[in-house]
Amino acid sequence: MPPEKNSIWIDKNKFSLLFVWTDCRLQKSFENSMFSVYIRQAERTIDVEIGSTILETALALGIDYPHGCRAGNCGGCKSHLHSGEVELSPYSKFALSPFEYSDGLILACRAVPWSDCEVSWCELDDVAMHPVLNITGTVSKIEKLTEDIISIKVKIQENMPFEFSSGQFVYLNFVGYPRREYSMAGFQNGELEFYIRKINGGLVSSFIWKYLSVGESLELEGPHGNMFYREQHEGPILAVAGGSGLSAVQPIVLEALKSQSDQSVYLYHGVRDEPDVFRSEIFESLQDKRTDFHYFPVLSEAKASQTEYKMGLLSAVLEADFRCDPGFKAYLAGPPPMVETCTEVLLKLGLDAMNIHADPFFTDADQVRWIWQTVLWCWMDELHWLQVALAESDMQSLKTLFSEVQKLQLLTMERE
Ligand SMILES: Cc1cc2nc3c(=O)[nH]c(=O)nc-3n(C[C@H](O)[C@H](O)[C@H](O)COP(=O)(O)OP(=O)(O)OC[C@H]3O[C@@H](n4cnc5c(N)ncnc54)[C@H](O)[C@@H]3O)c2cc1C
Ligand code: FES
Repeated sequence: MPPEKNSIWIDKNKFSLLFVWTDCRLQKSFENSMFSVYIRQAERTIDVEIGSTILETALALGIDYPHGCRAGNCGGCKSHLHSGEVELSPYSKFALSPFEYSDGLILACRAVPWSDCEVSWCELDDVAMHPVLNITGTVSKIEKLTEDIISIKVKIQENMPFEFSSGQFVYLNFVGYPRREYSMAGFQNGELEFYIRKINGGLVSSFIWKYLSVGESLELEGPHGNMFYREQHEGPILAVAGGSGLSAVQPIVLEALKSQSDQSVYLYHGVRDEPDVFRSEIFESLQDKRTDFHYFPVLSEAKASQTEYKMGLLSAVLEADFRCDPGFKAYLAGPPPMVETCTEVLLKLGLDAMNIHADPFFTDADQVRWIWQTVLWCWMDELHWLQVALAESDMQSLKTLFSEVQKLQLLTMERE
């Protein structure tokens, strides 16, 4: 007999589906304590325990699986899922865009198999293949570039075969401080250069600004990161940096201009005001010599009404200025809100998501906040779904829980 109220019937159906789904997963969990994952390049099948990720298991078994942060932020472990089902724990959309996800790409460091699978990591221009090294270094030079940007040079341990792709970062580890990611602005004569922004109250950046001196030793781990110069690409390049984000973007610009291909390169560097523009001497002299290089500092808080530079928010200037011809690749680095707004503009202007490579400078606090927010959003989704499914049942406790989660979510958004 058909149900009196279709909605209730559908709701009940959904509810039982949820149980079937949960039950299946639980049954699978009990039947199998692990799933088999075939990794194409390694030509190996590995057994991944329930709840473990593909990356951690592969690395533990000695497979040289490409990776970076191991936390869903850099995209270094981006892989193709050829068959099977995985669950991805929270990750940054900069590491894996929704387009990439819908194209069957996953992050091995976030991927927990729910069935037997077949995967392959991304090749060639998709991932930078350099051995990750732990090396020691000594601070060899410190130079203040603006009121809040400092350049530090670090002489790395001799005879170290340290290689990286332009745009990548390393973890710097000063004794007594947590490690932090910093992009490598240059590498010459065994010296790495970094541009470090002063952050009031920031643990490591304050230490670097106030106490670091020449001769101090530190540890470096890297290279990491997926925002690197794609050598195979021969089309034009748009490089966008916010503040200290120039550290990641500068080597890409310089390498592109050095390469044999006839690439036009456009560099937009967003800062607050004229005194915050740094390293302009490098780019102005390049612009004088090359017709294929175009350099635009952009001031977001210019005090003077007249300036030789562009004025406004980087994203607004790009939107007004830029026309994305087919074949462009964009590289972006700097504060996450800047990277996010500029990425949105570039997508709107017609740039393909696969051609946008970004390194938002997430802080540790951002990452924790982001994970919590994602977790809360997931709860909200599940609970909303359940609430709809059980709308007409007596589930007072569920509703109370629902409103508590809503409060928590509002709280997280306010803190943002
Ligand atoms: C891939 C990657 C590359 C990076 N490259 C660079 C680089 O080349 N140069 C560089 O200067 N930084 C870079 N960063 C950021 C860097 O790793 C640190 O997060 C940053 O220096 C702050 O560390 P901290 O220990 O001083 O601050 P924390 O002790 O981590 O933070 C203290 C407080 O300051 C706030 N805070 C931290 N950063 C900011 C900020 N940018 N704006 C406003 N408030 C903030 C935090 O929310 C927190 O409340 C990069 C980050 C990533 C993920
Ligand atoms: S290693 Fe997986 S996203 Fe960084």
